[in-house]
Amino acid sequence: MDKINKYIKNNKLWAAKMTKDDPEYFKNIAKSQHPELLWIGCSDSRVPAEIIVGAAPGEMFIHRNIANQVIATDFNFLSVLQYAVTVLKVKHIIVCGHYGCGGIQAALQKQKPNLLVTNKWLMHIKNTYRLYQNEVDVFETEEERVNKLVEINTIEQVHAVSHSLVVQESWDKHGGPIIHGWVYGLADGLVKELITLGPGHQIDPIYQYEPQE
Ligand code: CO
Repeated sequence: MDKINKYIKNNKLWAAKMTKDDPEYFKNIAKSQHPELLWIGCSDSRVPAEIIVGAAPGEMFIHRNIANQVIATDFNFLSVLQYAVTVLKVKHIIVCGHYGCGGIQAALQKQKPNLLVTNKWLMHIKNTYRLYQNEVDVFETEEERVNKLVEINTIEQVHAVSHSLVVQESWDKHGGPIIHGWVYGLADGLVKELITLGPGHQIDPIYQYEPQE
């Protein structure tokens, strides 16, 4: 059976099981969502957000893109962030990178002529690499260099979340959310905490917003 038919069959089985366990399940979950967490992860098929942390439907608001990037001109990401912080009032934002990230690996190589758009998406990672080249190039193998840049990129994106107006305003008015930087290991399935930023964090003045009148 091809994959699509298998997935449609799986979906029917899943819906039936959920209803058997709790006849009111879909009726209740359809009413509204109150996730406490925004997840910003990589599109990589091997890092399924809810599965690796055991979260149920309704628990996480999710944004994924190649190499879990937080880009100040990405309206897709900014819309997700604004809605999560302003409307859903999430308590936590998790930026989750992963070791062996193909996006990070590609950013450390020459640009591919057949991937013109993807090249541009990776440009931000190349820029980050140039800033931290000394910390990355000390490693002998490509795998180690990629994994070091995976960690650096994740930490950079956590800072980038804190540079947004919605987060800075929310820190001032609501004392949250807390931003976490995690890295996930494809080889062992474990998450490692890299950085945590909250309202007490001193943001570099060039990223701060002047008080509004
Ligand atoms: Co990846």
